[in-house]
Amino acid sequence: LVLILDFGSQTTQLIARRVRESKVYCEIHPCTLPFEEVRAKNPRAIILSGGPASVYEEGAPSLDKRVLELGVPVLGICYGMQLMAHLLGGKVERANKREFGLAQVQVEKNDGIFHRFAKGESLDVWMSHGDRVASMPAGFETTGLSGNTPFCAVANDNTKMYGVQFHPEVVHTPRGSDLLASFLFEVTGLTPSWTPGSFTDEAIQAVKDRVGPNEHAICGLSGGVDSSVAAILCHKALGDRLTCIFVDNGLLRQGEFEQVVNTFRETFSLNLVAVDAKQRFLSALAGVSDPEQKRKIIGKVFIDVFDEEAHKVQGAAYLIQGTLYPDVIESVSFKGPSAVIKSHHNVGGLPERMKLKLIEPLRELFKDEVRACGESLGMPRDILYRQPFPGPGLAIRCLGEVTEERLAVLRAADHIVSEEIRGAGLYDKIWQSFCVLLPVRSVGVMGDYRTYEETCAIRAVHSLDGMTADWAPIPYEVLGRMSNRIINEVRGINRVVYDISSKPPATIEWE
Ligand code: XMP
Repeated sequence: LVLILDFGSQTTQLIARRVRESKVYCEIHPCTLPFEEVRAKNPRAIILSGGPASVYEEGAPSLDKRVLELGVPVLGICYGMQLMAHLLGGKVERANKREFGLAQVQVEKNDGIFHRFAKGESLDVWMSHGDRVASMPAGFETTGLSGNTPFCAVANDNTKMYGVQFHPEVVHTPRGSDLLASFLFEVTGLTPSWTPGSFTDEAIQAVKDRVGPNEHAICGLSGGVDSSVAAILCHKALGDRLTCIFVDNGLLRQGEFEQVVNTFRETFSLNLVAVDAKQRFLSALAGVSDPEQKRKIIGKVFIDVFDEEAHKVQGAAYLIQGTLYPDVIESVSFKGPSAVIKSHHNVGGLPERMKLKLIEPLRELFKDEVRACGESLGMPRDILYRQPFPGPGLAIRCLGEVTEERLAVLRAADHIVSEEIRGAGLYDKIWQSFCVLLPVRSVGVMGDYRTYEETCAIRAVHSLDGMTADWAPIPYEVLGRMSNRIINEVRGINRVVYDISSKPPATIEWE
């Protein structure tokens, strides 16, 4: 285990991703993790993240000095390096000039964290700091130089402590992964053994160990990547002792219900209860236009329906959920004064009143690892690489009132967009692409008739995590085909527009 202690940097997650990509298991914990717990984890190496504070400020996040005396290799990144210097008797001061952006570092010594580099080599690195180390504690030497930052990379080979002022975890430091690999493999002596096969096997075993021979588990299937992989993984562990519940809320896309039911029943022989609750959702949504209201209603009806079905499963003691590591980190990470709080909205969690114990088999995995896990379980690409689809489904893409008729119009238009995006080979390159039905009527002419129908907006965005997004420059021919087909094939829409707003300040969904 490599332990990453978080001081509130925006890029702490990226450190974990790079370490995992090197096939080494790591965990992120807040810098406030008590020393006894740090020691109990028995880490083979420790990485101290960056952070927005200044070490000499009152109340700045610090570290129990005993962590540095455990005798395991330590890599301090930016704030992590400054804190290490500060705690060990060096000096940190405000830099004359904030340094933000690309810089060049010259490698002075090609061992330690620069084992995989050549002496004299110049590296592009990403800097983002207002403070700098003015003097390092005894025993440290400079191993990397940059014009503006005298102590850009430092090392104490005796105590195996290393520090870098720049951020090796970001893409703007192209050889950052080599630096981390030098730290993990040459300095620490770890072996790259964290692979999709290994974590899938471990996860299956963990579920087997946890659920008793006469106990059952239930899993809510949404058709999305996370719940699908969680279900298949638990099915491998529990066989018929797992029941999956898939609720048709009437807000799914064209053919989606049948596709999910077929895949899981026929291909994977899963014990699947498919519930037709379309009318319940639609009646609860009748007359409602407010987006937040829609979300609340859908969340509540879902919980009611799920709860009723779950009670029918004999001996159910566990609930399987597809929680991923980013959600776990989000709840444990160190929240410094300027840390961003992510405001993600999901269909309400399942109620405690269900009295089921929770199993989250994917809670240590990042999304790409979940996909790799799914591949090692033999799951098809079209499930593993699906674009995200919101829990409240088409309801939040049907602006204004959600009626069966309007949903049918939206579903047909959305299907055309999906076919054209796939046909153009763009599906995998785009984060999300879909249609929004606007309650805006305009005049059109079709043959000899005047039409007065609603408007469809096409939305397609590029994004890495859904937190920020850019509108996707879909080729004009593809947009043209979508527009022609929608207006000709879908009754109820006579005008198509393309949404060219980015997030922020817009959001990906319209509601
Ligand atoms: P926004 O619209 O906030 O969306 O830019 C960011 C990402 O989240 C998805 N999204 C949701 N997912 N329940 C979900 O499960 C929701 O209520 C919800 N609202 C937005 C959206 O599709 C995008 O991927």
